[in-house]
Amino acid sequence: MKNCKLSWSLVVVLSIIVTLLGYKFTVGEVQPSDDGRQAVILTKDERNALLLEMRNWLQNSQAILAAASEKDFDTVIKSARASGMAAEADTPGSLFRKIPVEMKALGFGTRKKFDEIAADAEQFKESNRTVAKLSDAMNNCIACHATYRFVETTQ
Ligand code: HEC
Repeated sequence: MKNCKLSWSLVVVLSIIVTLLGYKFTVGEVQPSDDGRQAVILTKDERNALLLEMRNWLQNSQAILAAASEKDFDTVIKSARASGMAAEADTPGSLFRKIPVEMKALGFGTRKKFDEIAADAEQFKESNRTVAKLSDAMNNCIACHATYRFVETTQ
């Protein structure tokens, strides 16, 4: 009977821990920012890694536009893939806990849109389609930048 009580207490304690971890995972490491956005608090290395990913996204977006205007679909496909899900492997694992779940969804959504640009270019080879799809993907850039910023921890 005593053992049974003990294991129930254990279940309760473990459930609380799991719930707290789940909560932390969902909200991430954020604070309100005085510019009206949410500040995601990161270490210097994590922030630098994400900003590098951002510059890659910008560079690949320009490369896609330039290639689409010349109907160079091999370069469209290569540049879009470089911004797609495959590039997610470069993201440090520690960020998973710190980034709020909505932001993660926007980030993964953006990567998927770049993979769709590649697949579409492979199938149709039509510049207008590529440009329209890139424009749609870039609405994600705007939405995320309007909502979040990255701030380095002081410790
Ligand atoms: C999931 C959120 C998210 C998405 C999607 C996103 N960004 Fe960002 N990006 C950020 C945040 C946050 C910053 C830091 C802004 C700040 O701290 O003021 C940033 C910064 C940048 C920077 C500045 C990099 C530097 O070195 O300072 C560039 C360039 C950039 N983003 C380009 C893009 C482009 C292009 C896209 C879309 C293809 C994109 N971003 C999509 C969140 C996002």
